[in-house]
Amino acid sequence: MRILFTALFILLPLCAQEKQENKEKKGPPRPPQNLKVLKVTDPREVGQIMRTFTAGLGVQCNYCHVQDRASDENPKKEIARHMIQMSMDINKNFPDGKMHVTCYTCHRGEAEPKTAPEAKPAQ
Ligand code: HEC
Ligand code: HEC
Repeated sequence: MRILFTALFILLPLCAQEKQENKEKKGPPRPPQNLKVLKVTDPREVGQIMRTFTAGLGVQCNYCHVQDRASDENPKKEIARHMIQMSMDINKNFPDGKMHVTCYTCHRGEAEPKTAPEAKPAQ
């Protein structure tokens, strides 16, 4: 039940967001212009990765972006670049080289991840 609720909570805003973006789109998506960390060229792949960020942090695209996605004007984007690099470095150190650690591993749907457990009510 709780998982279902969480899934809805994450998915519903994403759907609304996507509809709005489709309306603004003119023609096919252009290839990325300003990638410094991600090694991808397919705009659809960029979109998939970006959705792991919004879901992982529980934010919308404009948390890290201004209207022009290639712009570095929003300072959160540079922080996110460091986080991507850090996550890549962590995953590199797993013996099987697979991606075990994602944004969600630490962030759990929050922009500022908890570094200690929440205080539990006394039993
Ligand atoms: C947590 C921050 C964050 C969120 C949220 C985020 N992005 Fe990004 N986005 C980035 C970063 C960082 C880059 C650049 C990566 C690099 O330099 O390799 C990027 C790059 C892009 C690019 C490539 C732009 C170019 O031309 O270089 C597109 C398109 C994009 N994002 C779209 C989106 C969309 C659409 C969403 C919402 C679904 C989104 N982003 C959510 C951080 C974010
Ligand atoms: C190993 C744990 C860990 C992973 C993995 C991780 N983060 Fe973070 N992130 C943190 C911590 C802890 C903070 C808060 C401390 C800070 O701001 O430096 C943070 C802060 C941030 C912030 C700044 C939030 C704010 O309020 O200013 C952004 C943006 C961010 N992370 C994006 C990402 C993205 C995108 C990914 C996945 C590519 C990611 N993080 C993966 C631990 C992590």
